[in-house]
Amino acid sequence: MTVGAVGAVVPAAGRGERLGPGPPKALRLLAGEPLLVHAVRGLRAAPSVGPVVVAAPTGEVDAVGALLAGLDVTVVAGGTERQDSVAAALAALSPDVELVLVHDAARCLVPAHVVEGVVAALRAGAYAVVPVLPLADTIKQVDAAGAVVQTVPRADLRAVQTPQGFARDVLERAHRSGAPGATDDASMVEALGLPVATVPGAEEAFKVTRPLDLLLAEAVLRGR
Ligand code: CTP
Ligand code: MG
Repeated sequence: MTVGAVGAVVPAAGRGERLGPGPPKALRLLAGEPLLVHAVRGLRAAPSVGPVVVAAPTGEVDAVGALLAGLDVTVVAGGTERQDSVAAALAALSPDVELVLVHDAARCLVPAHVVEGVVAALRAGAYAVVPVLPLADTIKQVDAAGAVVQTVPRADLRAVQTPQGFARDVLERAHRSGAPGATDDASMVEALGLPVATVPGAEEAFKVTRPLDLLLAEAVLRGR
């Protein structure tokens, strides 16, 4: 049983290239408010979450601080790669935080029960936890020319979401070890040879990546 304080870091410094031309993704509006505001509110709806540090796009630190006024966050400048942004936010997290959630601003509608599920697994003793969902699509491996090599059995595969939760010392060790190209934090922990546990994710924790995702997110908000 780990009783330490829980903090969260929110990488929000990406450009949002796949959304097409426009402001950085975290600042795009969803039902009239920036994605990032929805994301931080989602974390704040989880009673376990204490200090929150946001990694903002370069040049937007003050603007992001103003947007998030009232949500009790610290804002730092993000970096070139996602893991640079996570590292910058982690370095600004209060020293008494022992359990860290890393949550993509782009997963702006994560339900509080997913956040609490990750925290519960950490408190139960896991060093690293990821929320997951089974895959809906059939998955095929292809060669360089695009021809199918094989159909990958899907039953053992999971799509991974955030927040991902970590014992702080494990996450810091993973970031120090460096894993170029890692698209999530848990894979850096895996690279250290440490176990990563899973808990149930939620469809609403999908990542806003492409234009259609913005429409889906608006629809989810209307339904709430
Ligand atoms: N992120 C970050 N710093 C970076 C790159 C990404 O903080 N240098 C954050 C994004 O803001 C997002 C999360 O990491 O909240 C997941 O990244 P992704 O969905 O890929 O967002 P973007 O990098 O902004 O999108 P794209 O790859 O389409 O440009
Ligand atoms: Mg990206």
